[in-house]
Amino acid sequence: MPLRTETEIEALVPLFEYLESLTGRASIADLDRVMRSIDVTVEDVAEHIRYCDEHYKRNLIREGRWYQAYALCWKSGQRSPIHDHTNTTCGVRVLAGRGVETIYEPSPCGQMMAVQSRPLNVGDICASQDSDTHQISNLQPAGQNLITLHIYSPPLREFHTYSATDGTVNRVRDVGNGCCEVVETMDIATFMKR
Ligand SMILES: [Fe+2]
Repeated sequence: MPLRTETEIEALVPLFEYLESLTGRASIADLDRVMRSIDVTVEDVAEHIRYCDEHYKRNLIREGRWYQAYALCWKSGQRSPIHDHTNTTCGVRVLAGRGVETIYEPSPCGQMMAVQSRPLNVGDICASQDSDTHQISNLQPAGQNLITLHIYSPPLREFHTYSATDGTVNRVRDVGNGCCEVVETMDIATFMKR
């Protein structure tokens, strides 16, 4: 895939050069460093900004052998599920608005427990991998959008979502076009034994 096209996003060239040079999964330290170093603004991903009234929208910018790059667009009140990053390194950079990241861990009773929340402001980076479990939310007032740049390495094909109200875990598969489907549901005790 050529690095430059008519609609090339100049600010993302250093990031894509790094991603195209990968011969394996990106380390969380390298992905964090590269995402901090780029000078990207929301205007750079303007052609990929699309929203959905029902849920946050995942808009694919580019995909290679060892990565996916998405622009995620969140209306006020839209939240990701509580999820992990199975066998993947994920880096997030806020391009517009203010998000919240909430970190979860299993509780003694087998449900997920929020252990930390932090604001994500423009330019902030949030890096996760493997069993790191979190939720990203747009909790700003009505009418205030959130736009985030997400890099997954390798492409995120399958991961888990966790119920906030019981011990249920879903194994979820990416079916393309920014959409996912549940392929298996289990309780967290069964999941933790795997
Ligand atoms: Fe995530």
